[in-house]
Amino acid sequence: MSGRVLLSVRELSIHFGGLAAIEDLSLEVAEGEVLALIGPNGAGKTSAFNAITGYLAPSGGEINFGGTRLNGLKPHQVAALGLVRTFQKTSVFGGRSVLQNILIGLHLRSKQTPLAILLGLPSIAREEAKLEAEAREILAFAGLGARADELGSALPYGEQRLLGIAIALAAKPKLLLLDEPVSGMNPVETDSFMAKLAEIRALGITILLVEHDMKMVMGVSDRIVCLSQGRVIANGTPAQIRRDPGVIRAYLGERYARVAEAQDRA
Ligand SMILES: Nc1ncnc2c1ncn2[C@@H]1O[C@H](COP(=O)(O)OP(=O)(O)OP(=O)(O)O)[C@@H](O)[C@H]1O
Ligand SMILES: [Mg+2]
Repeated sequence: MSGRVLLSVRELSIHFGGLAAIEDLSLEVAEGEVLALIGPNGAGKTSAFNAITGYLAPSGGEINFGGTRLNGLKPHQVAALGLVRTFQKTSVFGGRSVLQNILIGLHLRSKQTPLAILLGLPSIAREEAKLEAEAREILAFAGLGARADELGSALPYGEQRLLGIAIALAAKPKLLLLDEPVSGMNPVETDSFMAKLAEIRALGITILLVEHDMKMVMGVSDRIVCLSQGRVIANGTPAQIRRDPGVIRAYLGERYARVAEAQDRA
């Protein structure tokens, strides 16, 4: 890991009653990198995202982002600091137009006071026009420019997922947390999403990615942390993770891990 540490998670634990969804998780995300968090179903990935972004109070541990302690902050406060997430399930406003979906995101960081809005000051009209131009720019970046006036619910699934990411981009993230962005996408959509991710990164946005699609994870990540049953079982480069016996065991079971180890020795 090279750059300055942007996100630091220390000894995080998340318990649901008697179940330890996350136990003693420590990880750091450096500015500019793409870090993937992988692990079998139920490993605790989404729970970790929820705790980092203020949707869930952890049972223990410290979360720091750019020098600010996040523990106890609300999701919108975390987002305002530049730590923005997408959800495992699509979360677009189906009954609003694609453009309105982005405008809602932009309004969340609008600087107008409620009084100025009530009085309908000229500054409001100017700001509206500015926000709409910005929303159209974000849609063009996401490849959804031609869809601006369609209803969110009218988009095919892959584009709804892209819209979810465009909404997150409207919040001007420094760190973007993506929870299974390509799940449900076909291989063509997945490939074009990987290209889009490279463009997002080129904007200077750091990325923490949860994903099951290993082709995508191996293709885009600088580093990978693997969780199993709430604990870190491996942390390394894609090349290291690909041949890690513990990772193979967690995904495929004991028998395959022994075959892989034998192949490595041969
Ligand atoms: N709100 C909750 N209440 C109780 N148990 C929960 C809750 N949320 C998650 N869990 C449990 O915590 C564990 C971790 O779940 P989590 O959703 O974080 O896993 P995940 O790694 O994101 O899995 P997947 O890859 O299937 O999305 C699971 O056993 C899950 O059933
Ligand atoms: Mg999950």
